[in-house]
Amino acid sequence: MDYQKVKGTHDFIGEDAKYLSYIRETFFKVTSLFNYNEHVIPTMEYSEVFSRGVGEGSDVVRKEMYSFLDKGYRSVTLRPEFTAGIVRSVVENKLYATEVLPIKSSYLGQSFRYERPQAGRYREFYQGGVECIGVTGIDYDVEIIQLCLELLKRFHLDDKVSLSINYLGGIETRDKYTSALTQYFRGHIDEMCDDCKERITVNPLRILDCKEERDQKVAAKAPEITSYLSEKEKADYDAIKERLTLLGIEYHEDTHLVRGLDYYSGLVFEFKVPFEDNAVCGGGHYDNLVSELGGPELEGVGFSFGIERLIQFMKDNNIAPESKKIKSFYIMPLDKEISNYALRIAKLLRENDYIAEINYDGGKIASMFKKAERLDLDYGIIIGVDEANAKTVQLKDLHSQEQVTIPFDKLIEEISK
Ligand code: HAM
Repeated sequence: MDYQKVKGTHDFIGEDAKYLSYIRETFFKVTSLFNYNEHVIPTMEYSEVFSRGVGEGSDVVRKEMYSFLDKGYRSVTLRPEFTAGIVRSVVENKLYATEVLPIKSSYLGQSFRYERPQAGRYREFYQGGVECIGVTGIDYDVEIIQLCLELLKRFHLDDKVSLSINYLGGIETRDKYTSALTQYFRGHIDEMCDDCKERITVNPLRILDCKEERDQKVAAKAPEITSYLSEKEKADYDAIKERLTLLGIEYHEDTHLVRGLDYYSGLVFEFKVPFEDNAVCGGGHYDNLVSELGGPELEGVGFSFGIERLIQFMKDNNIAPESKKIKSFYIMPLDKEISNYALRIAKLLRENDYIAEINYDGGKIASMFKKAERLDLDYGIIIGVDEANAKTVQLKDLHSQEQVTIPFDKLIEEISK
């Protein structure tokens, strides 16, 4: 039998693995500049965390969760996103009582959604994001957009994305808006796809971002949430837009941007690649998630990047992962007898933070050089019985082909020049 990866999952090999580790490193570096601390949570949670947190009416909970009964018959779910899990962890560990508010958590890891696999859409994918919990007002709404842009800038993509924003109100506004939408869509039910017909009762907001052309036509004339916002919500939204403008951040207001998760109750935003449906990053403000999961009345705001989409976006723009260049060495013992000498050289190099690989195969020197070339290493260290006895090495620059003899004791001094 030929074994294959599970549908919708993928391997990170070679260059892809380099992209992933470069993004991870840059991500935590930049989030720490905004004073976020890494917060590591389990890959699985009891299913209620998501059904309550993300919302029973969301597509994620209704159709996409990897849930199963464990051996104790508890329903457990592989996280479809991080926000609900981070909030569960903040509440369970009562971080709001011991830490300075807002609590600033950053994370990067796998999420799982049973979606129809296609370009940029996987069943297991990586998300990197932040949650800022215990906020008041709009300051952090704007700050996390700045954080997203700083991240995109480090990947040389900040001038290649477009930012869409919208403002979803609190429960009262949402209730009023949802009944207006329900009424409107009921009048157009025959023009809508089967999924959206069902959404009229479970989650009419989601019809607004359905990708089907006929639903988009109906949605284009639907009532807009901005007409239902309270005075305070309107003022907050205006303040956000004003500050974005002040900071020179371009945005586009999209009254149909509702996002797929039910916890949002203020600003929502997405960064998109032009001409692509899939967002590379999405986030927003949530007023009730902390209390829904058993904590006090604390508001939060956060975002998540889809790492695979980010990688594809970088590749499409010929942006390679940057890596610190560490000199690398290929140790080529010409005789089996001197393998101990080869091991000593490799140990010395590695202890001094150089990359060292030993050719254990023996054989002809020409084939060793070929291997060194294929491994893309910088230097060859050629050693025979004579070198071992004299405690020297032949150091060959594999790019310039220059070769010198160096005493073992002087090797580190010489290569660090
Ligand atoms: P989301 O929009 O569902 O938001 O996901 C965030 C990002 O994850 C998306 O913009 C996309 O890049 C990536 N993504 C989502 N689904 C897939 C998939 N099936 N395959 C590949 N990439 C995918 C959230 O998850 C929220 N927790 C964001 C947030 C944080 N809101 C507040 N705090």
